[in-house]
Amino acid sequence: MPLVSMRQLLDEAAKGGYGVGAFNVNNMEQIQAIMEAARETKSPVIVQASRGARSYSQDKYLYHLMLAAAELYPEIPLVLHLDHGNSVETCKSAIELGFTSVMMDGSLMPDGKTPSSFDYNVKATREVVAMAHAKGITVEGEIGCLGGIEDGHGTGLDGLSHLTDPAQAAEFVKQTGLDALAIAIGTSHGAYKFSKKPTGETLKMDRLIEIHKLLPNTHLVMHGSSSVPKDLQDIINQYGGKLKPTWGVPVEEIQLGIKNGVRKINVDTDNRLAITGAIRKVFAEKPEEFDPRSYLKPAREAMKKVVALRMTQFGQAGHAGDYAPVPLSEMAARYAQKKAA
Ligand code: G3H
Ligand code: 13P
Ligand code: ZN
Repeated sequence: MPLVSMRQLLDEAAKGGYGVGAFNVNNMEQIQAIMEAARETKSPVIVQASRGARSYSQDKYLYHLMLAAAELYPEIPLVLHLDHGNSVETCKSAIELGFTSVMMDGSLMPDGKTPSSFDYNVKATREVVAMAHAKGITVEGEIGCLGGIEDGHGTGLDGLSHLTDPAQAAEFVKQTGLDALAIAIGTSHGAYKFSKKPTGETLKMDRLIEIHKLLPNTHLVMHGSSSVPKDLQDIINQYGGKLKPTWGVPVEEIQLGIKNGVRKINVDTDNRLAITGAIRKVFAEKPEEFDPRSYLKPAREAMKKVVALRMTQFGQAGHAGDYAPVPLSEMAARYAQKKAA
């Protein structure tokens, strides 16, 4: 199956009332882990690559690994999405390479740190929408800013500093014509999201519900949605790691989000934790090992387990065979028709 648009996956998820995990990758083992989890659970898949991932893998490697995944798993609808594109140029280069979906994160300036103005965000996102939709490619935008900082990307502030304003979100969707909207409701990227289990004071699910009421037909995206499970933290610390106590986003809150318009859920940190724990365990228990396969295999298996569990919890499991892929050219024709109407 060729790589498909994210819009198709999210429209199908909305029809079926489920969410789709978007998992970050940087290398072959992570892609393999996701594809095996998808086959096991019969799930459609969104694989996403950040700017950091693109530079780490020289992105051609990543793209060709994705083509291999599409060839080896023809029964799985598969999207390649750019995570947190910082500028129109970054989105353009992803589209030129073959990504089938891009995020224009105009909530921050191109430095990936400074919160931007509404007008800047609208202008940059509109530009990407025009360029992407002409090719049938999906666009995610963001309004409000997440907390934390990952690989140089983020405000460095806590998750409550730039929450999404519902009325502004509605105006943003109207002015940009995007396909999916990332919102800020108190989450942050990385492992240190909350210092205790989040409550309504720190994780604003009420805000999400309010936004969904104003925008019932917009696919909402939850970033910073790793659950940072205690068992994964414990494995790392048991084998010499030094993670401080921390809490992530409870899966039941994500499930509440899915009942209220969330269709894409971004998860990276949980997989990083699973991989690191598995590698630390091999290093601690078998210090004589030096074949990278001896630790990359258990790492891949540990990530696969996390991804399969999330696919089941988000409800995408069992839906891989529900629909045939719509070619990007057909998606482009649909956008053009809608614009002309
Ligand atoms: O948005 C954050 C994702 O976890 C990607 O992180 O920029 O370190 O690749 P990264
Ligand atoms: P986590 O750090 O919670 O996994 O979030 C990842 C993310 O939002 C990527 O865009
Ligand atoms: Zn994110």
